[in-house]
Amino acid sequence: MEPSPNARTVESYEQIADEYARDTKGGHVLSGGLTRLIETMPGAHVLEIGSGPGWDADQLEDAGLTVRRTDITQAFIDFQRSRGKSVDRLDAINDNLGGPYDAVVTLHVLQHMESDDLGVVLAKVAAALSPSGRFLVSIPLGEDAGWQDGESGNPYYRVLRTEDDFTASLAQAGLTPEWTERSNDDEETGWLCLLAKLVR
Ligand SMILES: C[S@@+](CC[C@H](N)C(=O)[O-])C[C@H]1O[C@@H](n2cnc3c(N)ncnc32)[C@H](O)[C@@H]1O
Repeated sequence: MEPSPNARTVESYEQIADEYARDTKGGHVLSGGLTRLIETMPGAHVLEIGSGPGWDADQLEDAGLTVRRTDITQAFIDFQRSRGKSVDRLDAINDNLGGPYDAVVTLHVLQHMESDDLGVVLAKVAAALSPSGRFLVSIPLGEDAGWQDGESGNPYYRVLRTEDDFTASLAQAGLTPEWTERSNDDEETGWLCLLAKLVR
């Protein structure tokens, strides 16, 4: 049987984890969102889905939050363990997220999930949050879905979504944005970073 688009994408990450870690070290691409979370939820207990190399978890821990680092890609888990970090293997689509957490963070991850899987993951995130919990997430903006070849030649399945579509998916899961930031001024491209809370 063919692997799912998400599983095939994870196979690609297995090949390039060390290179990705080198390229993203010190990047702080979405540090506005991390800062916002730190200010909103000081000392929070956080689940991070798709930690990758763990640079964002480092920033949150340096600010006094505690982070359950997780990823599905074994090469990222091994990379972080080689840095002395504790990391759990967690497939956001198929595994139980545990909780409750004060916050769930998933940055640059959900673009690798098909629409049905996105709905499943967002519902699990909402269920894993404490009543005053927050969800920090980033997505690439656009209106396209398909395969993209990375610089290394490995294929990545990527879904681009509009802010309206993503906000509607959040609403279906019982989440509403309270803060948003775009990586550029264009509403159709670039990255959207968003802090959401549960609808009461
Ligand atoms: C572009 S990297 C982002 C890594 C890190 N969050 C960052 O911002 O640098 C995408 C991440 O999504 C993770 N990922 C993809 N599918 C996943 C799934 N089903 N469950 C958990 N993590 C997943 C990959 O293993 C990888 O770490």
